[in-house]
Amino acid sequence: KILILDFGSQVTQLIARRVRESGVYCEIWPYTSKNEKIRSFAPKGIILSGGPASVADQDSPRIPDEVFALNIPVLGICYGEQAMCHQLGGQVESSDHREFGRAHVDVVEDSSLCRGVWARGSREQVWMSHGDRVVKLPPGFKVIGTSEGAPYAMIADEGRRLYGVQFHPEVVHTPHGAALLKNFTHNIAGCRGNWTMASFRDLEIERIRQQVGDKKVICGLSGGVDSAVAAVLIHQAIGDQLTCIFVDHGMLRQGEVDEVVKTFTGQFNIPLIKRDASDLFLKELEGVKDPEIKRKTIGRLFVEVFEEEAKKLGGADFLAQGTLYPDVIESVSVTGSSVTIKSHHNVGGLPERMNMQLVEPLRDLFKDEVRDLGREMGIPENIVGRHPFPGPGLAIRILSDITNDKLDLLRKIDSIYLEEIRSAGLYDAIWQAFAVLLPVRTVGVMGDGRTYDHACALRAVTSVDGMTADVYPFDMAFLTRVAGRIVNEVRGVNRVTYDITSKPPGTIEWE
Ligand code: XMP
Repeated sequence: KILILDFGSQVTQLIARRVRESGVYCEIWPYTSKNEKIRSFAPKGIILSGGPASVADQDSPRIPDEVFALNIPVLGICYGEQAMCHQLGGQVESSDHREFGRAHVDVVEDSSLCRGVWARGSREQVWMSHGDRVVKLPPGFKVIGTSEGAPYAMIADEGRRLYGVQFHPEVVHTPHGAALLKNFTHNIAGCRGNWTMASFRDLEIERIRQQVGDKKVICGLSGGVDSAVAAVLIHQAIGDQLTCIFVDHGMLRQGEVDEVVKTFTGQFNIPLIKRDASDLFLKELEGVKDPEIKRKTIGRLFVEVFEEEAKKLGGADFLAQGTLYPDVIESVSVTGSSVTIKSHHNVGGLPERMNMQLVEPLRDLFKDEVRDLGREMGIPENIVGRHPFPGPGLAIRILSDITNDKLDLLRKIDSIYLEEIRSAGLYDAIWQAFAVLLPVRTVGVMGDGRTYDHACALRAVTSVDGMTADVYPFDMAFLTRVAGRIVNEVRGVNRVTYDITSKPPGTIEWE
């Protein structure tokens, strides 16, 4: 196993992800971790992350002594490289020649870090983000790669098996970065690479058991991937100490409620309480046009209904959530010794209100890893492979006020659109696809008559994390086929448009 010491980089989790992808177990700990703790973890290698600090600063983070005392391979990335040089007798300076974004490294020397990946004499693309740079190497090190802004862009002390890179091998913008990291974990540190999602599952099950003991847990199901995977995992750990609550707010897609209920009670035998609260939600949303008021109303009602159901159960000590890594902003405080963790969740405010502790078994994972875990546990593809769906559901895809009729229209449009996407084999290539009902009516002609009906918009985007998105480039024949079906089959809709806005400047949802 590998230990990653976090110095506060935005992309530390990506290091862990790359290490896991290569089949090696790893954990991320703050750089303030105690020497004894590091030793008892017994890692085969240590990776030092990047971070926002400058080693020139008085209180800048330092690498714990134990890291070098263990005599195991160490790889310093960005700040990790600088701190390593600073502490082992080299020199780091802030420089006018900052590098942000794409850069090139000239490989000037062979090393075990580059073996089989980058040959001496080649020029390779990397991704940089640094102001400071190393200007003098510590004794024993030699330079293996240089860039315009970083004369010591890659360094190695092969004798002590210490390595440093100024660029970020963990991001996808460094094309062979994952292979370099694999060289470090497999060939240099000697990890075998037989760790899988099944091992993750077993480990998490053990953790959940330890955390929960014989107490009760409740979990809110949303119909989405994350809460479904979390619930199945927790159920495997503690069985019927878990109860799921599914609040149907009436803003879900066609067939979605039944699919979830069937899978959970049928296939997995998980205790599930389904509460149909659609009338309540619809009543409170009557006449509401403002997107923020819609979101807040739905959020508030969700919490109220959930709480009511939880009380009927006699309460619980733990609340389970399918929080993923991108939902969590985890930052290491660089001046003090404490770790600050901020957590964003969908059922905002629930845990505090109900005085419950959180169980969040997916908080280190990215969406596609959660899908793999779900498949590993046998959750059917129609749930694991599902596109993300917003908490407020169709309410934010009906622009202007919400009525039952509009919900019906939108469900029909959406299901035709998704059916066509599936049968064209495009569903998995798209991050998210959905229809939006517009608050405009347009004139059309059907048969020999005039129509004056709703217009709708279709949206489909590709994305890795929902933070940025590109429009999916359907071909025209596909779009016109879908538009034809919608106008012909959904009474009340006579015009279809395709949204061609990326994010930014648009957002994925319209409200
Ligand atoms: P935007 O529209 O902000 O959406 O580009 C980014 C991603 O987040 C989803 N989304 C939500 N998910 N609760 C959620 O669970 C919400 O209130 C919410 N609003 C947007 C959206 O579908 C997209 O995947």
